[in-house]
Amino acid sequence: MTQTQKILVTGATGTVGRQIVAELLDRGHEVRALTRDAAKASFPAGVEVVEGDLTEPDGLAAALEGVTGLHLITFGGAAFSPLETGPRLLELARSAGVRRVTVLHGGGPTPLEDAVRADDGVDWTVLMPVEFMANALEWADGIVAAGEVREPFVDRLSAMVHEGDIGAVAAVALTQEGHGGQEYVITGPEVLTVGDKVKTIAAAVGREVTLIELTQQQALAQWRAAGLPEDVIGFLLEAYGNTPEVGRTVSGTVEKVTGRPARTFAQWAAEHADAFRGQS
Ligand SMILES: NC(=O)c1ccc[n+]([C@@H]2O[C@H](COP(=O)([O-])OP(=O)(O)OC[C@H]3O[C@@H](n4cnc5c(N)ncnc54)[C@H](OP(=O)(O)O)[C@@H]3O)[C@@H](O)[C@H]2O)c1
Repeated sequence: MTQTQKILVTGATGTVGRQIVAELLDRGHEVRALTRDAAKASFPAGVEVVEGDLTEPDGLAAALEGVTGLHLITFGGAAFSPLETGPRLLELARSAGVRRVTVLHGGGPTPLEDAVRADDGVDWTVLMPVEFMANALEWADGIVAAGEVREPFVDRLSAMVHEGDIGAVAAVALTQEGHGGQEYVITGPEVLTVGDKVKTIAAAVGREVTLIELTQQQALAQWRAAGLPEDVIGFLLEAYGNTPEVGRTVSGTVEKVTGRPARTFAQWAAEHADAFRGQS
């Protein structure tokens, strides 16, 4: 059992940040959660909520007081622009006595991650999750409305990871010795095709779900109609059409770091079945 520590989590209202908050609380630590708008955010009982913006690091000096660990995201704002404020954030963190920093990798090199990696005044850990299981929530509307999933590249393989396991790895790296200078590729325990995922959701929900394979052209039209920016569409085409080996290989990191096996997609689907029934 590690001693109780106080950790500042940025991106705390996000898919991953919420899980880091929950995993830290589960392990008995104190959490200070950053959001740009506290009125819109909701957190579990006991979380200390602070307002601030990562694009204005000097405003975060008070939020850093008294914390031993800091979790960072690499982007800020509506357009997910890469944050340029890493060096100042780290300077403030060091002078506040922060000892450990985790950073959520943003799918490619970013100035904030570069600043973290260059900092030898803290123990940093780069969290490199593969595809989130939560991405499957994008299928909820089609399943609720028509019992259908419409996707391109249905045979692509993915070692997709439960968001809770990203949170668990982060919670350990933020509070325990031995994770400094590491980059952790975080995956689930199995490699699945789109068809495997659809079958798993159908079993969890208890209804038939048909997988309709889209051509690349049809997928482009669907993504554009959904308003995805062209750079995101380009990223999806590459990630889905030509998934790198790292995205389709089980890493074993979750068990190595947390001592617990990585959660399966069947577990995730059971937890989220109501979303695919139109009940949440
Ligand atoms: N989806 C995937 O399969 C996948 C896989 C691997 C890696 N990733 C990476 O994961 C990251 C996305 O993480 P996520 O899904 O957890 O994010 P998310 O759910 O989109 O949440 C975004 C978070 O960022 C915070 N935020 C945005 N701008 C901010 C600013 N200027 N100052 C302070 N906070 C700010 C928001 O906080 P407030 O709105 O409360 O202020 C919110 O908590 C990306 O870097 C992506 O590349 C995604």
